[in-house]
Amino acid sequence: MKILVVGTGAREHAICQAVHEDAELYSYMSNQNPGITKLAKEYYIGSEMELESVRDKATAWGVDLAIIGPESPLEEGIVDLLQETGIDCVGPTQAAARIETDKAFMRKLFVDHRIGGSVAYGVFDNVEEAGNFIDDFEKDLVVKPIGLTGGKGVKIMGEHLEDGADAKQYVREIIDNKIGGHASVVLEERLVGEEYTIQALVDGSHVMPMPAAQDHPHAYEGDQGPITGGMGSYSDIDGLLPFLDEKSYHDSVKIMEDTVKAVKKEVGPYKGVLYGQFMLCREGPRLVEYNARFGDPEAMNVLPLLKTSFMELCQQVVDGNLKKATFEPKATVCKYLVPNGYPDSGKANSVIKVDEEKINAAGAMVYYAAVNQENEHIYTSSSRALALVAAGETIAEAEEICEQATNYVDGDLYHRRDVGTEALIQKRIKHMQELLSS
Ligand code: GLY
Repeated sequence: MKILVVGTGAREHAICQAVHEDAELYSYMSNQNPGITKLAKEYYIGSEMELESVRDKATAWGVDLAIIGPESPLEEGIVDLLQETGIDCVGPTQAAARIETDKAFMRKLFVDHRIGGSVAYGVFDNVEEAGNFIDDFEKDLVVKPIGLTGGKGVKIMGEHLEDGADAKQYVREIIDNKIGGHASVVLEERLVGEEYTIQALVDGSHVMPMPAAQDHPHAYEGDQGPITGGMGSYSDIDGLLPFLDEKSYHDSVKIMEDTVKAVKKEVGPYKGVLYGQFMLCREGPRLVEYNARFGDPEAMNVLPLLKTSFMELCQQVVDGNLKKATFEPKATVCKYLVPNGYPDSGKANSVIKVDEEKINAAGAMVYYAAVNQENEHIYTSSSRALALVAAGETIAEAEEICEQATNYVDGDLYHRRDVGTEALIQKRIKHMQELLSS
């Protein structure tokens, strides 16, 4: 079987790693990712947003199935185009991808279909009406552009926005400048709790959930600094998290199942990966947002543990007969190494040296992200450079291996040493305990 993976980052490297042994792999990516290059039979360097070009390469290679890594081509309708050409896809249609690309659609779906885990919210295209909502709402709010902003558009009162006046100013900025592509904004109640991710494969009707993971979006240790694409993540041996109990996990999956049913009724079947970002609050799980793709870094917590063939699962997604997969019962820790200055001014075009042999000998894996290979050298871009991932019997064991592996990468890079450490895990557990007893 010929499989095309669209996308260029560590998430896509992990997807390629998961399918390459069972399929003939083709890649369409925007940078020369050294990991994907090694695995693919053929690759093409071009913008993933040039949909006709992706389609033409897919047709020329004669691919049977395409897996779409990032969200932006989904928003543009890459799946619709490839399907019209007769190529099956793991990824939702443009209409179904609105679950990520249109936050107003997603919140309305929860109300119309009485899906659990919803939040109080309002959608506005008028600055004054949004201001009145902010004035009348008695608690802090989160201000979100409706559309995609690469993870940089969400601002929280009490964190990025000092008060209601700041929130109003940001609303005006979003509406005036059409941030996220629309002159409208979603205002949502600010949730208090611990965030976690559940990723699932979906075949239009069935939802096959994977182990939960927790990402670390802040740039610096101790959850300080600006929000990034994610500095690292961990998962636990039982598929839950140290602060996430089994009931809350199952309640979250039920929310995802109800969402998939609702999407089917509204716009047609959802096929692909559904990423649920949840907040475990005092009252139970609340849905923060959906992504229509694997998480980055969270893909690296689940794909390396798959015992079932990922290619077979992809085929089941397409055929609508998705079955349960099995995962190695292991904990994982993923740490991203990023250029100094990231996320505001990451140092680009600097050479990094990655001793893959030593990293593998230490028991860890490398997933290359936004780097570019030219001749023998690997150059940074201004974004995340590479992820190191280790598995172990405990999170502590995986963390130790992962941290050890960071010694085998040289370059003008930094990483968060605290991801997966006992101290940070205990902080999460304590936070949850305090919340539940308050
Ligand atoms: N981990 C955040 C994301 O994938 O969007």
